[in-house]
Amino acid sequence: MELTREEERILQGEEGGTRQRMMELLVGLGRVFSASRLVPVASAQVSGASYKTIGRWGLEWLASLDAKVSVPTILNPVGMDRERWREAGIPPDFAGNQEKVLAVYQRLGVRLECTCTPYEILPVRFGEHLAWAESSAVAYANSAIGARTNREGGPGALAAAIIGKTPCYGLHLDEHRAPQLAIRAEGFGGGGPGGHYGALGFLAGKIAGNRVPFFHGIRPGPDDLKAMGAAMAASGAVALFHVGGITPEAGRYLPLAGTLEEHTITAGEVAGLLEEMPVEAVAMGCPHCSAGELGEIARLLRGKRVRKPLFIFTSRHLREANQSLVEAIEASGARVYADTCMVVSPMMDRFSSVMVDSGKAFAYVPSMCGALARIGTRAECVEEATGRGPG
Ligand code: F3S
Repeated sequence: MELTREEERILQGEEGGTRQRMMELLVGLGRVFSASRLVPVASAQVSGASYKTIGRWGLEWLASLDAKVSVPTILNPVGMDRERWREAGIPPDFAGNQEKVLAVYQRLGVRLECTCTPYEILPVRFGEHLAWAESSAVAYANSAIGARTNREGGPGALAAAIIGKTPCYGLHLDEHRAPQLAIRAEGFGGGGPGGHYGALGFLAGKIAGNRVPFFHGIRPGPDDLKAMGAAMAASGAVALFHVGGITPEAGRYLPLAGTLEEHTITAGEVAGLLEEMPVEAVAMGCPHCSAGELGEIARLLRGKRVRKPLFIFTSRHLREANQSLVEAIEASGARVYADTCMVVSPMMDRFSSVMVDSGKAFAYVPSMCGALARIGTRAECVEEATGRGPG
């Protein structure tokens, strides 16, 4: 791997021990993946921020670092809403440890924005190189925006944040961005349960695995692309997908798309995933809700009261920017939490069954929260939480 003179100096420890360790990590990663060089990144998004997932050893490793990030850097969701953790039932000792993790990141110069939708906060342009860790954000940045990022591990993303560069391999390179299979969604135009993009992504991820799919037959909007990508990254390991006529790089690969191994997913298969099952709680906002999704949930909840816990997750940035929607949602008894999510917080662990509107949460809630998961549309989730009719 070719290093510049400045990169060599960092590797030799001339800029301090932490920058040396971070450079060693990047060079090690680059060698494993046969990168020829490091490439500058515009921003970083670091996972490994929830105390639930990193625990004591992760905190100790972070506390041993002494450097500053050199590009705009934010965090993945942490284990609790930083303001409302008490009402969410988070134990004080967990909250104390979570605050220690956040304090370390702050000392490193990381902005304490904790969200899996970093593109709502950080400006991201087509073709730009990034070092993002959250799989759903990676899928969105690559696919919906046409930026370039591999799915970084937590330490790799932090190393890239501190050095400002990442090894140039995988999805940073043109040759790895071409589609490898085609997926035709049939009967998807009519909306309804069969038009559930999270459920479609859940099924498609199982087919695609870690390959790059090219979709025909769908017209997803930005929030639909977000839902699809998140689900495919969870049920498979998809980090980039193209949708004919929709995503920015799809046109370039259209001639190739007709020559690929083709699979079909029908609206009936998608609807079949949305089975009824009694649940104890309902959670939405995986990935974190956009302003449009908060608006839709507020509309669905108008004039209703929740009869079982209903939790909505979004970024702090959007919760603060959409106070009236949040108040309208919370008038029903639902709660809108920021900084955290249904999977990385211990707050959902007390429920044995949870209904979600997300293909990603549907894939992760059983293993991460120990609960049975049911998936439905947003309207079905609201109906499950409120019962039929006004409360
Ligand atoms: Fe985001 Fe948590 Fe889902 S990090 S994508 S809300 S599992």
